[in-house]
Amino acid sequence: MNPMQGQICLVTGANAGIGKQTARELAQRGATVVLVARNRERGEAARAEIAAGEHSVELLLADFSSPASIRAMTEAFKARHDRLDVLVNNAGVYLMKREETADGLEMTFAVNHLGYFMTTLLLWDRLLAARSARVIVLASDAHRQAKLNFDDLQNRHKYAGFRAYAQSKLANVLFAYELDRRRGDAPITINAVHPGFVASNFGRNNGGVAGLFMTRVVPLFAKTVVEGAATSVYLASSPEVAGISGQYFTNGRAVKSAPQSYDRAAAERLWTISEELTGLRLPNLALPDERRENGGHTDL
Ligand SMILES: NC(=O)c1ccc[n+]([C@@H]2O[C@H](COP(=O)([O-])OP(=O)(O)OC[C@H]3O[C@@H](n4cnc5c(N)ncnc54)[C@H](OP(=O)(O)O)[C@@H]3O)[C@@H](O)[C@H]2O)c1
Repeated sequence: MNPMQGQICLVTGANAGIGKQTARELAQRGATVVLVARNRERGEAARAEIAAGEHSVELLLADFSSPASIRAMTEAFKARHDRLDVLVNNAGVYLMKREETADGLEMTFAVNHLGYFMTTLLLWDRLLAARSARVIVLASDAHRQAKLNFDDLQNRHKYAGFRAYAQSKLANVLFAYELDRRRGDAPITINAVHPGFVASNFGRNNGGVAGLFMTRVVPLFAKTVVEGAATSVYLASSPEVAGISGQYFTNGRAVKSAPQSYDRAAAERLWTISEELTGLRLPNLALPDERRENGGHTDL
């Protein structure tokens, strides 16, 4: 049985870890899956591996630190597909040393938060066209340790890798909740996920003690990528969560996120800053005709 036959899913950071496993499982359920990777070789290897199961898998390239690259990727998607049923915002980094994008933004904030913000807003028309779409935002319980410092969102002062990462993950939860409030009657659900502590490639890029810890120690007690992808796959595919939006999920169920993630003033402020930094606004698009003819009712 292929419960997602005919559906189109886009997964970012899909060449490795949780993203690759999520893409694989959505393809196994019959969906056409568009993988997004920043490196052609790694992306092509993942595409070939997943497609070997005779699944429909496509590859698009994007570096989420580059707005131009994100725009080119979403344009390439739109040229090929007139709707998007599931968007999994999953690509993420953890950087022990501060790095900047070509535009002078702190890398973790840019990739982990603005990357999700841009991808979702640029594909909003295609999500709307699906008439019943789902957006999944890979956050982390690390957000519980974070406080958004609006005086130093770019982490210029006393950079610490975990603080920058935790802030970006709090931004993910604030974004998911704020998008849910702003979507109006758009038939698109938005939920955030904590995948658990997962033995993926995460953090291995750092080298040194941190990289060694992620490579050698974490796999001893962390979840496997199959376990780590389970909540993303559940949110993308299960009828049980149709219509559920604006929630934080872990281990396949909605739980309370940290108190600071329910700060609506902070969410609005972050949204405005994100609009200014990206030049994007949530499109105020008409709903698909069929939906309006149906008295506004949709099965989410
Ligand atoms: N692993 C955990 O314990 C854990 C816990 C909580 C939350 N999460 C979240 O889960 C998500 C997936 O992480 P993972 O554990 O699967 O890590 P991973 O194995 O390191 O995979 C991360 C993916 O993001 C991609 N990526 C990173 N920077 C990028 C950029 N600038 N442009 C495009 N793609 C980029 C990576 O591409 P490359 O292969 O080219 O680097 C890779 O495909 C992340 O959002 C992370 O914050 C993970």
